Amino acid sequence: MKKIIIIGATSGIGRELALCYIKAGHKVGITGRRNELLDELKHQYPLQTETECFDVTGNANIKHLENLIQKPGGMDVFVYNSGTADIHKEVDMQNEMTTTKTNVLGFVETTVYAFNYFSKQGHGQIAATSSVASQRGNGWAPSYSASKAYMSNYLEGLTIKAYRLKRNISITDIQPGFVNTKMAKGDGQFWVAEPGEAAHQIFKAIEKRKRRVFVTKRWALMAWLMRNVPFFIYRKMG
Ligand SMILES: NC(=O)c1ccc[n+]([C@@H]2O[C@H](COP(=O)([O-])OP(=O)(O)OC[C@H]3O[C@@H](n4cnc5c(N)ncnc54)[C@H](OP(=O)(O)O)[C@@H]3O)[C@@H](O)[C@H]2O)c1
Repeated sequence: MKKIIIIGATSGIGRELALCYIKAGHKVGITGRRNELLDELKHQYPLQTETECFDVTGNANIKHLENLIQKPGGMDVFVYNSGTADIHKEVDMQNEMTTTKTNVLGFVETTVYAFNYFSKQGHGQIAATSSVASQRGNGWAPSYSASKAYMSNYLEGLTIKAYRLKRNISITDIQPGFVNTKMAKGDGQFWVAEPGEAAHQIFKAIEKRKRRVFVTKRWALMAWLMRNVPFFIYRKMG
């Protein structure tokens, strides 16, 4: 039985991913700001669920993470899934800062802790939910695409570091396209996956220790197109 910590598992992809691990017989430690949703899963699966309610933009992330790791008695897999995105016509200071704090600072702080924890332990797995949006700048949500580019780039660097240091730590960069959650806003969505389907694919990719996974698979094609389309065309759509 493995111990899985998921930062941001109150709803959407994170909650479904927690359910995948529970159904596979593992123990999960889940977080988020909405305590009632954490409690809901704890009541449903009391022997397999531990919770810790906190905001990743606060200044006690490590204290909360340490508390949570103690509850199931350790950590084998760490998943950073908390994320926020908002579309504003103008460049909104508060939105840009909240997105950066949640998607970048919360991610890097907890992921560094997990990497060093697994280094001492001698093994572990790290995964984080980036996005296909990481491929290029996005004119609707500049801080969102930039934050996801940071995540994916950071995870690649960390993978190389683990290799050089000969650490038995595998790292998975999760890049979903559209997933039908409250975060997926706006018109013109396509290839939209249900959260359960997305979580199942993420679960399998982490189990197989994949370095990168596009969810669903065909989003790999869109990622390639986004990367390669010339800027004068991309600026009309991005
Ligand atoms: N849906 C999509 O189309 C899509 C596509 C690509 C990538 N993603 C990524 O997938 C991840 C999960 O998103 P989702 O689509 O499943 O949406 P969601 O249902 O809104 O889930 C977001 C999760 O992040 C947590 N979170 C947000 N702000 C937080 C904060 N300040 N402190 C702690 N936790 C926070 C939320 O918990 P609380 O609100 O309870 O705090 C929730 O558990 C995100 O990183 C998102 O960027 C989503």
